[in-house]
Formats: sequence, structure tokens, C-alpha cells
Amino acid sequence: MSKNIVVAIDGYSSCGKSTLAKALAKKLHYIYVDSGAMYRAVALYFLRNNVDTQNHEQIEEALKNIHLNFHSRDYETHITLNEEEVSEEIRQMPVSEKVSEVSALKEVRREMVKQQQRMGKSKNIVMDGRDIGTAVFPDASLKIFMTADPAVRAKRRYDEIHAKNPDITLEEIFENIAHRDYQDTTRAESPLVRAQDAIILDNTDLTPEQQLQFALDRVESLNR
Ligand code: DC
Repeated sequence: MSKNIVVAIDGYSSCGKSTLAKALAKKLHYIYVDSGAMYRAVALYFLRNNVDTQNHEQIEEALKNIHLNFHSRDYETHITLNEEEVSEEIRQMPVSEKVSEVSALKEVRREMVKQQQRMGKSKNIVMDGRDIGTAVFPDASLKIFMTADPAVRAKRRYDEIHAKNPDITLEEIFENIAHRDYQDTTRAESPLVRAQDAIILDNTDLTPEQQLQFALDRVESLNR
């Protein structure tokens, strides 16, 4: 029996990881998992319930009460937190500002990684995040590490969320991205780092179609 294929896509915030991961999964009929959405949903729970991130008991207790589920409709991420659809709310600024702190907690990472590994056990999947090729699936069939110019990333994010958040400025987004890059790369637990066997994809000057072709070519070469 052939082993299931796992494609791990890691990289900095707002680099287009989910756009590529989604398109790739759709093209190949694989399952798409947005691991960042899981950390965001946990951060939302922490915000709503004032969980003290210094208090290990509170963290463990919160994790026991958090039940996440994905409902994939046309490869868009629909995530529920204790059966409530939170897909929109987790993209708002309060969650974006909280998520680095929450995702740096070892208890949170341990639980999320466990759930993510379960999802990739027997099915072909594309998962994007920060530690997919290093901690979640170190034996992934294919690892892609994405990067792009920070100013380009901020502009892309701005275009994406400005319609729903007209008050937000490009500067705020740029600062949030810079802050998350710093936190993601310097945290003690599973910092964002390129796996040695990951292929680098700098998409500053690439269209989504070119990125998809790049990834499809790599997947195809696995099957040769
Ligand atoms: O991909 P994103 O911006 O939605 O991720 C939200 C946050 O979650 C980001 O600041 C880093 C964190 N994250 C993580 O630590 N590990 C992952 N596998 C995915 C996301």
C-alpha cells in the first residue's frame, strides 16, 4: 500500500502560504489544513475567557475545554470553536495581536501538534503553518518554505482585510507582521525555521499561478 502524501508549507506571516496551500490541495484533491487557524481559535478562546498565559493550570484547563473542528467547503477554512463558527472572528486584529503570545506556549503547541499529526496520518494533505516541516511532519513528502518582501506582504494583507476593516492602516498591518515575524522566529518552542530539506519559494515577484505550478512540479516529481 502506498503511503499518504503530506505537503508541508511553512513561512512568514502573510506570505501567501494559505493561498498556495489551498490551490494545491484543490488541484490535487487533497485535504487542506490551515494550522494557523487553530492557533487563532485558541487565542480567541483565551481572549474571551481571560486565560492567564502565565498560569499553567489555567492553560491546561482551557485546553481541555477547547474543541476545534474544520469544515471544509470548497477549500475555504471553516473552523468551529466549541461548535461556534469563528472563521471570520479569528482574522480580526484582537486575535492577530494575541496569537503570537498564545502560540508560543508549550502546552498549546503540544496539543495542536498532536491534533495536526492525527489529521495527516492516513490521508493526502497540504498543511500550512510555521513548524509543519520541522515539528509536525518532519518526514513530510514535500516541504516548501515561503518568504517574500515584508512591504509586499503588508500590502497584500491590507488589500485582503481593508474592505472589512476600513479603519485599519497599512502601517498597523506592517507593524503587526514585523512583530509576528520577530515572535515566531525567536520563541523558545518550535520557532519558525526552515527545515534543512525544505525548498525555498520567494514569491515577491510571482503570481499565484506561478507559485502553484512551482508546487505542482515538485509534487509530480515525487511520483516519478
Ligand atoms: O498563519 P497565521 O498568520 O494565520 O498564523 C497565526 C499565528 O499562529 C502566527 O502568528 C504564528 C502561529 N502559528 C504557529 O505558531 N504555528 C503554526 N503551525 C501556525 C501558526
